[in-house]
Order: sequence, then C-alpha cells, then structure tokens
Amino acid sequence: MTQMTSLSGASAGRFTFGTMQWGGRADAAESREMFDACRAAGLVHFDTAHLYCDGRSEELLGDFAKDCRDELMIATKVGYTGGAGRENILRTFDVSRTRLQMDVVDLLYMHRFDDQTPLDETFETLAKLQSDGLIRYIGVSNYAAWQVMKAQAVAASFGTRIDAIQPMYSLVKRQAEVEIFPMAADQDIAVVPYSPLGGGLLTGKYARGETGRLTEDSRYAARYAPDWMHEAAKGLSNIAGREGLEAATLAVAWAARHPIAPAPIISAKSAQQLVPSLAAVGFDLMDDLYDEIAALTPTPAPATDRLEEA
Ligand SMILES: NC(=O)c1ccc[n+]([C@@H]2O[C@H](COP(=O)([O-])OP(=O)(O)OC[C@H]3O[C@@H](n4cnc5c(N)ncnc54)[C@H](OP(=O)(O)O)[C@@H]3O)[C@@H](O)[C@H]2O)c1
Repeated sequence: MTQMTSLSGASAGRFTFGTMQWGGRADAAESREMFDACRAAGLVHFDTAHLYCDGRSEELLGDFAKDCRDELMIATKVGYTGGAGRENILRTFDVSRTRLQMDVVDLLYMHRFDDQTPLDETFETLAKLQSDGLIRYIGVSNYAAWQVMKAQAVAASFGTRIDAIQPMYSLVKRQAEVEIFPMAADQDIAVVPYSPLGGGLLTGKYARGETGRLTEDSRYAARYAPDWMHEAAKGLSNIAGREGLEAATLAVAWAARHPIAPAPIISAKSAQQLVPSLAAVGFDLMDDLYDEIAALTPTPAPATDRLEEA
C-alpha cells in the first residue's frame, strides 16, 4: 500500500476481513476459499494477530497474500499476552513477520491496553518500527477513549500517531458510539471494528435453536448473555425476512453505516457462512431501515449523561 498521512481515508476499503478462525475452526482449504471470495468482492484489508490459532492464521494469510501483496492492507496485532513492553513487541512482531513472510506489515496494533507498562516504552518501540520502515501505520485495539488519547499524546512525543483503532461494535454492542467514535472523528483515526455479527448472534441462528460460538465458548456466551440482545437478534431476523434479506447482511451493513464510516471486520468459518456478510459490501442501507434497525437496541447515553441534549 502507498504511505498515506493518515489511514482514515486511505484506500483500505469500507470492509475488512478477519482471519481469527483460519487454521482453527476453518482449515487451510476453507480459509483459501474465503480469501478468494473476499478478493473477488474487492476487499483489500485483512486482519490477523500474533495470537490467532497459534500462528496458523498469520501463516495462511502470508501464503495467500504472496501473489498480490502490493494490493493488500495487512494488519496484525501484538501484546495480547506478554504485555506491551519493548522486548515482547519486538520478539513477537519478528515472529509474525516470519509467519507472514513479509518484511513490512501495513498496520500493527497493540492488541489490548497494558496498565503495567509505561506508554513511553510501547510507543517509542512502535515509532522505531515505523521509522525503520517495518510498519506503515500504528493501531490500538480494546483501548478506552481516554487510553487512546493518552497514548496519542505519547505517540506525538515520538513523532508519530495512532492511525487506527479496533473496538468491538455491533447492533448489540454500541458502547463505542459514546466516546470512541466521536474521538476517532475528531482525531482522524480510522475505525476498524470487530464482531459485527455479535460473534454470530445477529445471524439469528440461536433463536432457531442452532449452535455455534455462543454455545461453545463461555467467554462469548457471557459477552452476549443478556436477553435483550437475543430479542434484538430476533427483531433483526424479522426485519430481514420482511425485506427478503439475510439478518447477517443487515447486521454488517448496519455496523458499516454509522456516520463515522467504520470498516467492520467480517468473518466466518467457511465460504458458505461468509456469503451473507459479504453481501453487505454492495448493499446500500437506506436511512429508514438503518433507523428501524437501530431502534431494536438501546442507544447508549451520551458521555455527559444529559439525555435531553442527545
Ligand atoms: N481485537 C480484538 O480483540 C478482536 C476480537 C474478536 C475479533 N477480532 C477480529 O474481528 C474479526 C471478526 O470477529 P468475529 O469473528 O467475532 O465476527 P462476527 O462477524 O461477529 O462473528 C463471526 C462468527 O459468526 C458465525 N457466523 C458468521 N456467519 C454466519 C452464518 N452465515 N451463519 C451462522 N453463523 C455465522 C461464525 O461463528 P460460529 O459458526 O462458530 O458460530 C463466525 O465465526 C476476527 O476474525 C478478528 O480478525 C478482533
């Protein structure tokens, strides 16, 4: 990718694909099929992490990206385990580059906030990777807005900036609307949110008695436990049925349609599962339908809590 002054507005595309299942619940052949389907749909931005599937996700992405590397935006993440210290960042990033078979990674995220490591150490390390030409953009994931702003000031002291953030965001996880999205707009930070289907909840499959991540993974079961979330998923399925669409298409299109123009990370276990999420790429969600879907879940209160001013 060509170097841009900021990633927001760069040609990373309006949708991203996440490879968290590659080499785990999706085998190499299924992963390849999903990669090809994404490329055919025009996606260029692929998201992985040092953590995913013990490295298999990065290895598969590296294999698939070989023939078209220059057309892609490749993002990976470090520091989910081991902290945000210099040694951990450099060691794991080197392993990631080897797995990806890439000298340069376009976007490197800190996977989560580490309150045990001084931000100076983290951002001096990232700034050095950038000035050495090993990464193009810096991102942070799972940071609160105040943590991003604190880190942004530290990044500036090293002559760099946070270009992208990766928060959770979907119809049933709207906290990011309160502080994170307005901050990103103000700071010209690209927003690349994850879990637009609420880990699969918004496909409507759990209301049909089917199984999946929410019945297999206790962390996701807890994250999406509240009844109102399951009611919203049913409501979305009803709207989708009326419109002759898949609920997943509407869920992804809804997450992408926020005025700050997030680039949601879609994902699946198979090319077949991916079809309705990919259909959101060419789907134009009209204002009325956007508002009707938004009304299925509570709009979070503004940061000031002055509801009358919202
Ligand atoms: N930064 C972070 O901390 C973080 C955290 C999570 C994810 N991410 C990134 O964001 C990406 C997307 O996250 P996500 O996987 O949570 O996204 P998601 O779109 O909310 O959930 C995807 C899951 O939903 C289910 N699904 C998808 N399409 C379906 C269909 N048509 N029918 C039935 N089930 C379907 C599948 O799981 P089952 O079939 O197993 O139910 C699939 O793996 C990841 O790949 C990763 O790159 C980042």
